[in-house]
Amino acid sequence: MKHASRTLLGLALLCAAAIAQAAPNCTIKLDANDQMQFDKNTATVSAACPTITVQLTHTGKLPVAVMGHNVVISKTADMTEVTTAAAKAGVAAGYVPQGDAKVIAATKLIGGGESTTTKFPGSKLKPGEDYSFFCAVPGHWTVMKGKLVVTK
Ligand code: CO
Repeated sequence: MKHASRTLLGLALLCAAAIAQAAPNCTIKLDANDQMQFDKNTATVSAACPTITVQLTHTGKLPVAVMGHNVVISKTADMTEVTTAAAKAGVAAGYVPQGDAKVIAATKLIGGGESTTTKFPGSKLKPGEDYSFFCAVPGHWTVMKGKLVVTK
C-alpha cells in the first residue's frame, strides 16, 4: 500500500513536470532600476504564443525625465538603426520611432515606481532568429539590453 501510493505520487510529479515543460512561456517580465540596469540579460518566449506580454517594472525612485526606461524588441541586426531612430523620435515619443516596421514591440517610457505592459502576437517572431530587448533611451541601450530567445 505504501509502495503504491509512492508510485502514484511519482507519476503525479512526472505529469506535473511534463505539463510545465509543455506550456510555452508567453511573458517577458523585466525589472529596471535607478542604476540603469535590467534584472535579466536573457528572456525566452515561444513564437506559438497567441499573445506575448511584455511587463516592465521600474523598481527605482528617479523620475522619468532623469532615469526613464522602456522596453523595445527588434532583431539584433536592427538594433543600431532602431536606437538611432529612437533618439531622433525623442522623449515626446517615449524614445520609440513611430510606425517603424523594425520595432516588433515597445512599451511606453516610465519612471521610478511605475510599471507598464504591452502585448504583441507571437507570430511576429520567428524561432531561431536573433532578437534583442533593450531600453531605447539614448545611452541606456548600450548596457540595458539582452537576448530574446524564441522557441517554437
Ligand atoms: Co533605460
